[in-house]
Amino acid sequence: MSVAAADGPLVLGIETSCDETGVGVVRGTVLLADAVASSVAEHERFGGVVPEVASRAHLEAMVPMIERACAHAGVALADVDALAVTAGPGLAGALLVGDAAAKALAVALGKPLYGVNHLAAHVAVDQLEHGLLPEPVLALLVSGGHSSLLLVPDITSDVRQLGQTMDDAAGEAFDKVARVLGLPFPGGPHIDRAARDGDPSSIAFPRGLTGRRDMGEGGHRFDFSFSGLKTAVARWVEQRERDGEPVPLAHVAAAFQEAVVDVLTRKAVLAATEHGVRDLVLGGGVAANSRLRVVAEQRCAQAGVRLRVPRPGLCTDNGAMVAALGAELVRRGRAPSGLDHAADSSMPVTQVLAS
Ligand code: KG4
Ligand code: ZN
Repeated sequence: MSVAAADGPLVLGIETSCDETGVGVVRGTVLLADAVASSVAEHERFGGVVPEVASRAHLEAMVPMIERACAHAGVALADVDALAVTAGPGLAGALLVGDAAAKALAVALGKPLYGVNHLAAHVAVDQLEHGLLPEPVLALLVSGGHSSLLLVPDITSDVRQLGQTMDDAAGEAFDKVARVLGLPFPGGPHIDRAARDGDPSSIAFPRGLTGRRDMGEGGHRFDFSFSGLKTAVARWVEQRERDGEPVPLAHVAAAFQEAVVDVLTRKAVLAATEHGVRDLVLGGGVAANSRLRVVAEQRCAQAGVRLRVPRPGLCTDNGAMVAALGAELVRRGRAPSGLDHAADSSMPVTQVLAS
C-alpha cells in the first residue's frame, strides 16, 4: 500500500441499480469494506429481477448495510470525506432508494455527494486491486444490462464508447441460455460451472458481427450481437428434444460460452491494438466468467496487451466500486454532483457524473 493511497480520501459508496444493495468504504485506492445484500433469491422464481421487489429489498437492507460497512471499515459516518452513489443507469425505483439514502447522509453529515455512473464504477473498481488505472485504458464492460468497448482517457471525465451490443447484453445472453437449459437465475455462474465438464468445440455456435462486412470500415467492428447466438442455442436444444435425444448440458454450456468469450476477447484486443492502447481492463458481472478470464489472458499476451481483471467478487455489483470511483473523483478535484441531481435510469455510458 502506498503512502498516497493510505492518505487518500475516505469515501462511502452506495449501489442499488439492480438487485444488490451494496455499501463500500474506500480510502484512496484501498478497499476497507464491501457489504452486499442481494434480493436475488426473491426474483429467482420469476426468472428475472422484479423492479418493485428489488426496490423494497433495498429499502430494508440499506441501513443494515451502511452499519455493516462502517463497522468492517472501522470508521464512523462522521469520518467520511465524501459520499458516492450510483445515479444510473439501472432500475428507476431501485436507483431512487440508494440516491435518496445518499442525499440524506450528505445533508446530515454536511459532506459532498457524487452521483456516479454505474458503468464507469465497474471500470474504476479495478483501482482497488491493481492501483491507478493507466491512461488511456481500454475497457470491456460486460454485465447483465450492457456490453460495451470503451476507450477511457480519464475515468473521471472522459469515457468514449467504441462499440456496444446491438441487442442482448452478454450477461442477458448467459441468463436466457441458462433458462433454456433449465438452470437457475442468474444463469452466468451456473453456465460457467456446467461448462467446465464440456467441450467448447463440440457444437459450432454463431459468432455475431464477426463477418467480413461487419469487421470492415463502416461496419460493426467493435459492436456485439448475442441474440442470434441465444436463438441458435434454443433451436439446437429444441431439435435434440424433438429427436428424443438427451441434451448434453455441459457441451452446450461450454460451446455457448466459448462463442461469447471468443467474440468479446477478439474485439477487445483488436480495439486495444488499433487504438494503440497498451492496457485492457475487464469489468461487469460477466468479467467474473472463468473462461473469459483465461482466453483474455491468452489473447492479450499474444498481442502484447497488459490485462487487468478485478477479482470476481468485485466484478459483480457492489458498493466498493462506487466508492472507488468517488475516491478518484475527489482525488482529481472534480466538483461534486450536488443534492439537486436526479437519478437517471438511462444515464449514458459517456457521462461519468450526474449534474
Ligand atoms: O454487473 P452485474 O452484477 O449487474 C449488472 O449491472 O447487470 O452483472 C450481472 C450479470 C448477470 O447477467 C450474470 O449472469 C452475469 O453477470 N454473471 C456471469 C458470471 N457471473 C455473473 N456471467 C458469466 N459467467 C459468470 N461467472
Ligand atoms: Zn453492474
